[in-house]
Amino acid sequence: MEKKNIDWSNLGFAYQQTDKRFVANYKNGVWDEGELISDANITISECAGVFQYAQTCFEGLKAYTTQDGRIVTFRPDLNAKRMEDSCKRLEMPVFPKERFVDAVIKTVEANEAYVPPYGSGATLYIRPFMYGSSAVIGVSPADEYQFRIFTTPVGPYFKGGVKPLTIKVSDFDRAAPHGTGHIKAGLNYAMSLHAIVTAHKEGYDENMYLDAATRTYVEETGGANFLFVTKDNKVVTPKSDSILPSITRRSLMVVAKDYLGLEVEERPVALEEVKDFAECGLCGTAAVISPVGKIVDHGKEIVFPSGMTQMGPTTQKLYDTLTGIQMGRIEAPEGWIQVIK
Ligand code: PLP
Ligand code: COI
Repeated sequence: MEKKNIDWSNLGFAYQQTDKRFVANYKNGVWDEGELISDANITISECAGVFQYAQTCFEGLKAYTTQDGRIVTFRPDLNAKRMEDSCKRLEMPVFPKERFVDAVIKTVEANEAYVPPYGSGATLYIRPFMYGSSAVIGVSPADEYQFRIFTTPVGPYFKGGVKPLTIKVSDFDRAAPHGTGHIKAGLNYAMSLHAIVTAHKEGYDENMYLDAATRTYVEETGGANFLFVTKDNKVVTPKSDSILPSITRRSLMVVAKDYLGLEVEERPVALEEVKDFAECGLCGTAAVISPVGKIVDHGKEIVFPSGMTQMGPTTQKLYDTLTGIQMGRIEAPEGWIQVIK
């Protein structure tokens, strides 16, 4: 299999069209068999549910080339399950878990030439998504849907790779109590665009959103969960019903406890206590673990002892162990690695 001629080590997080995508359509209450197609464009009604009332949700996972040359993906069953939760909350039909995993495998196989080589620092990002494709004009769910998976080779999500980030405590809210913050609905990201553009204009890398009800607890950023390390080396992550249950964060808590022997806590984290932490990182599929150097709360700066030039030592260990598992250098817990080929 000849790889594409791509400058893998200099890729950013951007879309690049690859050869094949998986497409399945839902009509008259059933999913069709689905197929791999070449056309990257979609033609649907101007009145489709996705356009009028944002009836769409998505997932994100990656394929990796391991040290011994296999192509693998990481816990795709959890993406399938989370998409099921998203679909139920958005009144969309569920795409069955086994079929989801099978479609991920088929799509990556068909785009093998775009899976970045081991050691390049790049990965193949996999984007499953679903949208209401039939016309709706009264506010109601669509009757027809499309489930689709495309892939694109990517490098680091944040420019500058592992340079610690500066985060702004946002005045905007991302998710309401009892709203949709816990699912991966496109609408959550649409409403974060003004907040992120504003933060970027002011020179920040990302926003820290607070709980919308009291604005005193840490929630997450626009695309990643928070991890903190205490001065006595405990790993702490915010617990909230309105944040996305990150698969990376859930995996890192297992890595911290079982691989690094650290104490872990998932609990509400007050903004007030953030100044007492030793390290902070953002975790997600795209972010992997991106170190946070500074959080700015309306002019008040919290600079973590780990500083603005490198990852904190515990964040680094978490990063090395997680990426070691994903790239096949460290033995994975049962069921975490799905071999593609
Ligand atoms: N939080 C948000 C809002 C996200 O969009 C993502 C990305 O998927 C995450 C957290 C991280 O989740 P995961 O680790 O499953 O990619
Ligand atoms: C991911 O990490 O897969 C996401 O979907 C986050 C997004 C901001 C790119």
